[in-house]
Amino acid sequence: MKRTLTILAALAVSLGAWAQVKVSVRESLTGQPVIPAEIYGQFSEHLGRCIYEGIWVGPDSSIPNKDGYRTDVLEAFKALKVPVLRWPGGCFADEYHWMDGIGPKENRPKLVNNNWGSTVEDNSFGTHEFLNLCEMLGIEPYISGNVGSGTVEELAKWVEYMTAENGSMAELRAKNGRKEPWKVKYLGVGNETWGCGGDMTADYYSDVYKRYALYSRNYSGNRLFKVACGASDYDYNWTRTMMKNAASKMDGLSLHYYTCKGWTGSKGSATDFTPGEYYNTLAKSVEIDEVLRNHEAIMDAFDPERRVALLLDEWGTWFDVEPGYNPGHLFQQNTMRDAMVAALSLNIFQKHTARLKMANIAQIVNVLQAMILTKGEQMVLTPTYHVFRMFNVHQNATYVPSEYTCGTLVSEEGRVMENFSACTSRDASGALHVSLANPVLDKAVTVELSFDELKPRSVSGEILTASDIHAYNDFGKAPAVSPAAFTGAKVSGKTVKLTLPAASVVVLEVM
Ligand code: AHR
Repeated sequence: MKRTLTILAALAVSLGAWAQVKVSVRESLTGQPVIPAEIYGQFSEHLGRCIYEGIWVGPDSSIPNKDGYRTDVLEAFKALKVPVLRWPGGCFADEYHWMDGIGPKENRPKLVNNNWGSTVEDNSFGTHEFLNLCEMLGIEPYISGNVGSGTVEELAKWVEYMTAENGSMAELRAKNGRKEPWKVKYLGVGNETWGCGGDMTADYYSDVYKRYALYSRNYSGNRLFKVACGASDYDYNWTRTMMKNAASKMDGLSLHYYTCKGWTGSKGSATDFTPGEYYNTLAKSVEIDEVLRNHEAIMDAFDPERRVALLLDEWGTWFDVEPGYNPGHLFQQNTMRDAMVAALSLNIFQKHTARLKMANIAQIVNVLQAMILTKGEQMVLTPTYHVFRMFNVHQNATYVPSEYTCGTLVSEEGRVMENFSACTSRDASGALHVSLANPVLDKAVTVELSFDELKPRSVSGEILTASDIHAYNDFGKAPAVSPAAFTGAKVSGKTVKLTLPAASVVVLEVM
């Protein structure tokens, strides 16, 4: 009975779909923002197998590695053009004491990872290992400081250790093998301080924030971008209080938004879902558009010049842990449904960059909506990885407004979402890129792109789709979801025409 109702709901959804969309690309609307590369930010946490096995195997591992970092994962990071990487958590950050993770490995204390499955953390991946990784790959580090169980002095000394040229922290760093300071831009002052990061009220935390931020100094030409811990989801009061009490002392304010069925009970399977559940997931994920707008409006009231950035430093899908895995390790598979969430979300984020300056999907390897999954020495790239790689042409490109009218879908949970998504940018080499998504499971859509300035001469593209929305890339099997060249777009007079297959994501380059 439930199944029949679900199918009927999905049918109702698809009947509402439109089969044709006209997109007008408006380059005459000048003065548009550059899309910060940091919108494509990532998050690495000491959680499950994200760091250990996922990124770090140690130099003595039989898994091929460069100085302890697994080689296959390094190569995948490079192709992704990871702009910024947040570390060490998450909830882990507020029980992390950085001094445990420096110096000879054999002397580093072992701690119980209380947040994540009580796994024993041997601290073999610490400050040097993280910052050297970022430096090697040209990634901007984003350090998440311990406010919940740490002290002002501990965070102040960490900043000094990482960034000062002189003084006893610099001497200690040199003794541990690194003479030159690193460049560290982003400093998060606490994580989820309303919950696992200290269980505080916004009023109380805003004072705490100011204390920690004050003593986190700029050393030796390094300029910190200080991020205050922000709200979860729809907690607009948190944003209001933080802006009222501390806006002048922060460079950014964070926000967390997960696409999750709920915080109690089952979150649903990552791979086994009905059409109704598919649309529920998508509709919940695109609600971020409204959530961002609401937080931005509050920030605008206190900061009309938009000096303070909004950073969505945790987002993504959150399903039940895969059977057989430690429930505290949050390991989930990643299907074409996740790819669709990624495409719709990135297209939304790119329209908010007047205020939204960073977004960090959780987490880069082996946790939640990961880019990469590993199993021993095997590695797979997820459908979400492919979307991030295809869309990275938008990094640092100038946003180009585009207008279209499309239909809407209503999910079983009653959320209304558009049945089409598009975003356009022009990069420094002059190429115009259009990222398109058709979330409808059973209907292709024909698209006509028209341009107010460009006379299109050629078009090329890539497509990500699968014969089954449940498809995912599994260990030891040929990839079930991988991008392919898209030859279905044609220049037709002053327009470009194409058909977007059902449940597909396409990125076009128009010259
Ligand atoms: O991403 C998993 C956890 O979700 C993070 O550690 C925490 O910040 C959030 O609650």
